Amino acid sequence: MGITTSLSYLLFFNTILPTLTASPILFQGFNWESSKKQGGWYNFLINSIPELSASGITHVWLPPPSQSAASEGYLPGRLYDLNASHYGTQDELKALIKAFRSNGIQCIADIVINHRTAEKKDSRGIWAIFEGGTPDDRLDWGPSFICSDDTLFSDGKGNPDTGAGFDPAPDIDHVNPRVQRELSDWMNWLKIEIGFAGWRFDFARGYSPDFTKLYMKNTSPNFAVGEIWNSLSYGNDSKPAYNQDAHRRELVNWVKAAGGAVTAFDFTTKGILQAAVEGELWRLKDSNGGPPGMIGLMPENAVTFIDNHDTGSTQKIWPFPSDKVMQGYVYILTHPGIPSIFYDHFFDWGLKEEISKLISIRTRNGIKPNSVVRILASDPDLYVAAIDEKIIAKIGSRYDVGNLVPSTFKLATSGNNYAVWEKQ
Ligand SMILES: *[C@@H]1O[C@H](CO)[C@@H](O)[C@H](O)[C@H]1NC(C)=O
Ligand SMILES: *[C@@H]1O[C@H](CO)[C@@H](O)[C@H](O)[C@H]1NC(C)=O
Repeated sequence: MGITTSLSYLLFFNTILPTLTASPILFQGFNWESSKKQGGWYNFLINSIPELSASGITHVWLPPPSQSAASEGYLPGRLYDLNASHYGTQDELKALIKAFRSNGIQCIADIVINHRTAEKKDSRGIWAIFEGGTPDDRLDWGPSFICSDDTLFSDGKGNPDTGAGFDPAPDIDHVNPRVQRELSDWMNWLKIEIGFAGWRFDFARGYSPDFTKLYMKNTSPNFAVGEIWNSLSYGNDSKPAYNQDAHRRELVNWVKAAGGAVTAFDFTTKGILQAAVEGELWRLKDSNGGPPGMIGLMPENAVTFIDNHDTGSTQKIWPFPSDKVMQGYVYILTHPGIPSIFYDHFFDWGLKEEISKLISIRTRNGIKPNSVVRILASDPDLYVAAIDEKIIAKIGSRYDVGNLVPSTFKLATSGNNYAVWEKQ
């Protein structure tokens, strides 16, 4: 190949191909119990790669990889120590990521950088001395790296916190340039040495989006999503209010402030959708006639989901109604946004076939994160929408959709209280 040919070849694969290929579909590859798996979670999950690859998912989100005071990984200490993880060793993780990549699936690391657990007490008797777990002094921080208003654990001497506080561990001072540099270096090590392609930013409301923007710029991930989990507004009967504009605007504003390349989990859609499927499907149309979640404002940056390791699994902090999970997947897998599938639903709940059918309908009709929705019905017991005028999705207990589905559309899949048609 001549230099011009190979250059254009490179350009083709680096810039053009991603926009031509199917829209990204994320898979959360663990739950709250995964760190307890006998023989190690990484060694277990590697056996699922053929099924995941066949289903059409493009990215898998793996649990926080570092040594942690809590076995699930969300109280990390020695960031470079991937051997003390309860999910497996560094070599097992590398083998897992390599196997995913050779099946065309990219891995996303769960980046827990709002807080960090210290290893030693300082001279004041406060847990404020960190060890990097490295031969040099990388990440060997002291009290001046902890936010000054984090008195609970550390009595830090750094700058005040730029976001929400997190009680169980010292909050890290992201204003400190050494913190910025050493965390960026660590993330680039996860990318180059371990093989991760992108990030899921844990508790991203714990620090200013200016820093998310900085870490995005310093590490150029292939895909990144932030967890901005704020409460919906609730009516007086403890049901979510109809209008959740303020809630979704917080997500949009965070994405913009973080530079626009990062995406956010669409907690607005989750909250509205799980109330809507309980006979209140009128909630799925906002006052402008569009989808009421973040996907109605900035769909390319919205990662839709039904449940995760916190909201569902064994924690069940904010679970989707369990008998209506498939209606939730019909909505997110036919609508704009970047849909995310939870391990438990796909494997443990036996929904693999139904979910995979929806993924293939999405893919073969070219439904994208910014596809266009036209809502045809939003009654208490019936929601019908056309997406890109290529597919029509229906959820709800009402069977008869009347004349909403033209005769040019053919049934593509159906199940308990749902159906999807595609244009012939
Ligand atoms: C983890 O184990 C691998 C393989 O034995 C080794 O290369 C690496 O240095 C270890 N990391 C730490 C922090 O001990
Ligand atoms: C809820 O609010 C509505 C409208 O403000 C009011 O009419 C209704 O009585 C309230 N219900 C309860 C249970 O407080």
